[in-house]
Amino acid sequence: MGAQIQVAAYLMAAILFILSLSGLSTQETAKRGVIYGILGMILALVFTIIGPEIKGLEIMLIAFIIAAFIGIMVARKVQMTAMPQLIALLHSFVGIAAVLVGYGSYLDPKNQALVGVEHTIHLIEVYVGIFIGAVTFTGSVIAWGKLDEKITPKPLTFPGKDVLLVAIIILSAILGVFFVKDPQKYFVFLHIMTGLASILGIILVMAIGGADMPVVISMLNSYSGWAAAASGFTLGNDLLIVTGALVGSSGAILSIIMCRAMNRSFFAVISGGFGETGTVAKKIDGEVKSITAEEAVSILEEANSIVIVPGYGMAVAKAQYPVSELTEKLRKKGKTVRFGIHPVAGRLPGHMNVLLAEANVPYDIVLEMDEINPDLSETDVAIVLGANDTVNPGAMEDPTSPIFGMPVIEVWKAKTVIVIKRSLASGYAGVDNPLFYKENTRMLFGDAKAVLDKINAAF
Ligand code: TAP
Repeated sequence: MGAQIQVAAYLMAAILFILSLSGLSTQETAKRGVIYGILGMILALVFTIIGPEIKGLEIMLIAFIIAAFIGIMVARKVQMTAMPQLIALLHSFVGIAAVLVGYGSYLDPKNQALVGVEHTIHLIEVYVGIFIGAVTFTGSVIAWGKLDEKITPKPLTFPGKDVLLVAIIILSAILGVFFVKDPQKYFVFLHIMTGLASILGIILVMAIGGADMPVVISMLNSYSGWAAAASGFTLGNDLLIVTGALVGSSGAILSIIMCRAMNRSFFAVISGGFGETGTVAKKIDGEVKSITAEEAVSILEEANSIVIVPGYGMAVAKAQYPVSELTEKLRKKGKTVRFGIHPVAGRLPGHMNVLLAEANVPYDIVLEMDEINPDLSETDVAIVLGANDTVNPGAMEDPTSPIFGMPVIEVWKAKTVIVIKRSLASGYAGVDNPLFYKENTRMLFGDAKAVLDKINAAF
């Protein structure tokens, strides 16, 4: 196959990736976006494997089949709630791939033969690519461990951590200067930098905990994109550069959006420490009023406007199906039912939207936090379905709360709030929730699916 055909196929794949990203920006077009992404990836893989530079096609095909088999098995088995861990693990693959590509490219005799500026640029690409790849690799493995609770999710920091981080970065840069000047003599510096970057990734992510984890995932997503772009430069592969830049920039934008949703500065997230133990739990005034499913039905019968705010508990209980059924029943009775989705509800961006779409909840009644908040004071009943941190009034009312400043869905402004969850336990950020003690709150204890099944049966 000629190189020009490959370039044309790469261009097509790049266009498909851009269409994919734009498709993924709304629920209505998300499926189409995924299909564009799959087509783009197939094009990219096929035209790389049969490309003019590739030798050992048989080995490639065997690796391809084994990897595809593993990928399909993992994707079929993974629970929706375990998706962030899987994403973190996949980012680690991009990181280690960038490290290996960097070393491979440096050792390639064709590249060793380069001279002058071209050689210098190549060495810088190798060095930077390996650095980003190593940070991404170890950072992603730690993120996976934390999300999968193999490692404590609590932030681990120590005095002088920031100084150490800066020192590692400066030392890596100095070693890089020597390596680029005389790579034969200072080849060992490449190894030392790989070690330093790996330590940097570990310290960076170990220091982050609690509610900042989603930002870390999207930040690592961004890093993995830049690692891929760096590999693209070392390999001279335009598609990898474009794709890496798309992933890198979209991950960075998503990180910023999430930081805004949590009212945290990006720098504060990266420097870690959020959710540290030691915050003294404040005694919350008020009394918990619990109700039964039958009493909830009576409250809903009286209501005209209802807003449902789902959270992680809905995903755990797989309650999207009964909540979809309840929505249909209430709408048939002439009630206005809408959903309010917090940008970081659940455990990954868009988590709630995907689940509700899967259960056929109409898109036009699923609103963003900013769209639903102004309407809550006019709402008769707000149902909090397995959500906690994302509806915590302490984020707005209590300056001592660790999540103070994070925008939340202001459910307590509705006439009545029904909170469906199993206990008074805290959510992901480990912060108590004063919502449960408010005058207009009614706690409906139980598994979200079991409770909704009871309510649906009563209707
Ligand atoms: P959370 O604050 O995590 O609270 C979920 C609640 O669901 C828990 O308090 C739990 O209470 C309840 N629950 C668990 N299983 C249940 C079941 N079977 N039936 C009913 N309730 C159940 O949820 P949220 O409001 O969605 O907030 C998300 C949190 O995760 C935020 O802190 C966010 O920053 C963080 N986070 C988000 C992401 C992204 S990108 N979305 C990624 C990682 C972390 P009980 O145990 O009492 O039932």
